[in-house]
Amino acid sequence: MTGSIDADTDTDTPDRTPEYSPGDDRRGIPFVGAGPGDPRLLTVAGRELLEDADLVVHAGSLVNSELLEAYCDHAELVNSVGKDLEELIPLMADAYEDGRNVVRLHSGDPAIYGAALEQMDALEHVDVPSYFVPGVTSAFAASATLRTQLTLNEVANHVAFTRPQGKTLSEDEDHISEFVGMGDVTTCIYLGTHAVRETMDRLLEDGHDPETPVAVVYHASWPDEDVIVGSIGDIADRVEEAGYRASALVVIGDAVTGAGYERSYLYGDWANRGSSGRSAENTSEPEASDD
Ligand SMILES: C[S@@+](CC[C@H](N)C(=O)[O-])C[C@H]1O[C@@H](n2cnc3c(N)ncnc32)[C@H](O)[C@@H]1O
Repeated sequence: MTGSIDADTDTDTPDRTPEYSPGDDRRGIPFVGAGPGDPRLLTVAGRELLEDADLVVHAGSLVNSELLEAYCDHAELVNSVGKDLEELIPLMADAYEDGRNVVRLHSGDPAIYGAALEQMDALEHVDVPSYFVPGVTSAFAASATLRTQLTLNEVANHVAFTRPQGKTLSEDEDHISEFVGMGDVTTCIYLGTHAVRETMDRLLEDGHDPETPVAVVYHASWPDEDVIVGSIGDIADRVEEAGYRASALVVIGDAVTGAGYERSYLYGDWANRGSSGRSAENTSEPEASDD
């Protein structure tokens, strides 16, 4: 591998304009989303790439070993946990330059708290192209587990993917209280299982309703998946009792219960009303068709 590892995006941002058309074969190292855990939630594109891979660099314990066994038994497997860019980039770049099929496998979707771009930019600096193959993020697995929608007519109009303050995020950058205060946002907290009590205490200090629904979904889609449902006022005790400190998604908001929604326009009278007799198919408001 030639060149130094440099993912400095301030001074030397790579051109991100896509040079391909839909349907083209992509060149380079795919950054594949493994999905939330259940191997069947891997995309078909991701599975095909893993089946062809010679080297799979995976994201440790959040990638289900069953998935690795099912699709990568012929490949060299490297766990990225504990390795820095100085180790990972030459490992992937050298293998790619030797003509091996390399896959970088992230949990969920690589674009959500995946730190994928810094690796891709570092690869770009040594002339190794890369691209994303999306996956099912854990918030979507959690909403399926809860049998609810993250957006729900008249209950939740927005979704926030967020994380609590800590080593990475300062107090000022923690917006959980603001999202909850908006009232119609479903707040999905990643990387916050260890901090449920602190997070809920801050929400109570900020005057939020202690009865606001909260769910903590541990290992969504895994065989040992578990769901704890409560409220801002009592969820911390319940999570501590269960003993979870990692690998859970914290969901706050009325959508957690799936209750109190209004029927959508799509399946109501609205779809057929008006003298023009417009229907869901010919409405000029296309987003209505997904409600
Ligand atoms: C480094 S982030 C990676 C997120 C991942 N890229 C995604 O899209 O789900 C790790 C956090 O994701 C959440 N997480 C990942 N897999 C999960 C699962 N199966 N069930 C619940 N939460 C999960 C947890 O909050 C965990 O702390």
